[in-house]
Amino acid sequence: MLSAHGFSLSSRVIAINGLLFALGTALLAFSPATVSSRPLWSEVIVLVVGLAVMIVANGVLVGGTLRPLDRLVTQLDRVRSTEPVERLPVPRSGLGHDLAESVNDLFARIDTARRDSSLAALAAQEAERARIAQELHDGVGQSLTAVLLELGAIVEQADPDTAAALTGVRETTRASLDEVRGVARQLRPHVLEDLGLRSALVALTTELFSHGETHVRRGIMPGLPALDDPVELVVFRVAQEALTNVARHARARTVELTLNQVGTDVVLTVRDDGIGIAPGAVGTGVRGMRERATLVDGQVEIGRRDGGGTQVRLVVPA
Ligand SMILES: Nc1ncnc2c1ncn2[C@@H]1O[C@H](COP(=O)(O)OP(=O)(O)O)[C@@H](O)[C@H]1O
Ligand SMILES: [Mg+2]
Repeated sequence: MLSAHGFSLSSRVIAINGLLFALGTALLAFSPATVSSRPLWSEVIVLVVGLAVMIVANGVLVGGTLRPLDRLVTQLDRVRSTEPVERLPVPRSGLGHDLAESVNDLFARIDTARRDSSLAALAAQEAERARIAQELHDGVGQSLTAVLLELGAIVEQADPDTAAALTGVRETTRASLDEVRGVARQLRPHVLEDLGLRSALVALTTELFSHGETHVRRGIMPGLPALDDPVELVVFRVAQEALTNVARHARARTVELTLNQVGTDVVLTVRDDGIGIAPGAVGTGVRGMRERATLVDGQVEIGRRDGGGTQVRLVVPA
């Protein structure tokens, strides 16, 4: 881009200075002024005036040429802190035009690369979860099923006392199998793919809280904008972690899940009235929520509520 006008910055500066010196020399050569071995006052004055003219002209011309660079540096400092990076204003012509276009082109490529790598990270996380789910299902799940069947066969032939003792073992095994299946199901957001975000969130709350003491309130705004798949996935995963934390840690009477559009953002909140998260408590779950949010340019705030309990709030651009 810099060569669009055919001259590099240094050749322009050299050309300007060369022009000035040539002009000065010509003035000295062709003006009536001459310089003696002991310069006369009149000569000194001519030299000083000539020099001053050269310095000022040099300043004006070189300064004018380089000013777009100074402006660019100031603008770069300002946009560096914005995310996604703001584009530079492009002057109509000259060096500033070429530079700003080059830099904007670079910014666009950085944005694309960043988005691509975020999407790749999300896809990799999901692929890993799917793999673990498959392994749980095919490995531990199959073995436990086999144990259950064998136990059933043994119970049939055992004497009443042994059969009674084995019934407990069967129950524990069945519970373990259910747990493994539950974990495998949570690892793959089938419902999300099949039914969409709204139904997936409803299914999630039902699955987690239908057997417990905690009462669920849902406020999912009708007519939410259609979200991109990665954004939807992040909303679902954050809701899943936040709700699982409520079920596991909060000892809450009520949990409330809301999903709303606020301006151009979609806001998910999960609030409970339980014991409240300890300030600064961070585990794999909390870290995962933050990481996922960042991947789609979103933010998560997790904290204690004023009235007791915990609130998780996710804001993502729709
Ligand atoms: N809703 C909640 N109510 C009370 N404590 C919570 C809640 N959510 C999280 N916590 C606390 O924060 C810790 C970190 O949570 P997390 O990162 O999800 O890890 P994990 O759930 O695996 O323990 C939890 O161990 C728990 O002590
Ligand atoms: Mg957790």
